[in-house]
Amino acid sequence: MDADIEISKKSAAEKALEYIRDGMVIGLGTGSTANYFIEFLSRRIQEEGLSIIGIPTSKRTEKLANGLGIKLSNLDHHPRIDLDVDGADQIDPEFNLIKGGGGAHTLEKKVATASKRFIVIADSSKLVNRLERAIPIEVLPSAREVVEQELIKMGGKSVLRRNFTTDGGNLILDTRIEIQNSMNLESALNSIHGVIDNGLFARRRPDMIIIADGKNITIRKR
Ligand code: A5P
Repeated sequence: MDADIEISKKSAAEKALEYIRDGMVIGLGTGSTANYFIEFLSRRIQEEGLSIIGIPTSKRTEKLANGLGIKLSNLDHHPRIDLDVDGADQIDPEFNLIKGGGGAHTLEKKVATASKRFIVIADSSKLVNRLERAIPIEVLPSAREVVEQELIKMGGKSVLRRNFTTDGGNLILDTRIEIQNSMNLESALNSIHGVIDNGLFARRRPDMIIIADGKNITIRKR
């Protein structure tokens, strides 16, 4: 574990607490940075007696938040969320994201889309000039082969994520593909039959990013 990166993740997570208000419904992201936020949030709820409802974006997050005593709900009961705080795997200068390193991007995208405000917290290594990671694509197990073939036709090269199933019981194809227009690509990938959702966040970009390099924080708004 790189100590500096952990300090950065914690600093970004702590900063996001400044945007919490009593009575809010808050989307709880997935991943190590989001975990820090959830821990800090639970402490603040207890210390200040805040009334907060959390909407978890994965079973892992649900377990963590539940264990920390945060009241939880879901999108069916709370289709409008005040604020979503989540991590990211890569962030480009226009705030397009690649997410899904933890395989939770399908629900993460739904929660971000349902949120009035979406804040991404990250260490500075996540900032890139151009998105270049493999894009995680959640696919129905029975459609894996046909989806892979369609991706090849689009110029993509996929690797099945080994020993992994999503919370929805599906598979992940980590796909290297050239991103010329992120919005178009996000839609094109999702239009392949058998694809549940992909980890490109171009249609729902964050409203704000909190980037930390050690204890140095940069806030950028769109
Ligand atoms: C989970 O599926 C991802 O989208 C995470 O948000 C992303 O991988 C960031 O995780 P870390 O905060 O652990 O880097």
